[in-house]
Amino acid sequence: MSRARILRELGLGPLWRLRAGSPADAAPPLAAQSEAAAPAAVTPRLPDAVAAAPDARAAQIAAMNWDELRGAVAACRACVLCQQRKQAVLGVGDVAADWLFVGEGPGAEEDERGEPFVGQAGKLLDAMLAAIDLKRGDNVYIANTVKCRPPGNRTPEAEETAACWPFLARQIELLRPKLIVALGRPAAQTLLQAEVKIGAARGKLYQHQGIPLVVTYHPAYLLRNLPDKAKAWEDLCFMRKTMKGL
Ligand code: URA
Repeated sequence: MSRARILRELGLGPLWRLRAGSPADAAPPLAAQSEAAAPAAVTPRLPDAVAAAPDARAAQIAAMNWDELRGAVAACRACVLCQQRKQAVLGVGDVAADWLFVGEGPGAEEDERGEPFVGQAGKLLDAMLAAIDLKRGDNVYIANTVKCRPPGNRTPEAEETAACWPFLARQIELLRPKLIVALGRPAAQTLLQAEVKIGAARGKLYQHQGIPLVVTYHPAYLLRNLPDKAKAWEDLCFMRKTMKGL
């Protein structure tokens, strides 16, 4: 599908066209972005997310390969989310990917199919990827902050995020992506171990364990807040430019 068609289908008109001189293209160089990695948008908090996972379990998970991780996630009963899930959803994509996108948690369709972002938000995520010439599974890995569906698609609780953190941490360690994109607040807060406001944090370059990280709106949020798609487009341009500079 052509980019013009993708953008048209997203209802984004000319806003999502890649062009020289876009606001993101005019962004300061990476070094300056790093310096600007804004304490204003990120206030240290949530140090408990890692600590809350019992050490022995976290250490076991930290030594797992992909197969072991898949098995451990499927069998996990570390928090209440296991009670209502149909299946746990580890992640999907290229395990040698440069790009890692991290969402919040599986919804109903993901719970049914065992793959992240396959519902409406997933369609938008795929379109967002396509807009910057990316494709699910091709140099892209997609994971979630929690691997089991929160009932009613509620935001995961801190204990649930903490219980699931060793899995995401191990995925990141195994992938060692060049760039992590946090989709929405729960992912950003978990990865940055800090209170994050997406509106303030977007457009800035952060790091997770030495890996560059950017944040943007969650696709499900964008489906409910159409005007912010223009900002998401800026964020896509920013992440694309950031990756080019790595
Ligand atoms: N929202 C998410 O955060 N992740 C999914 O997998 C689906 C919807």
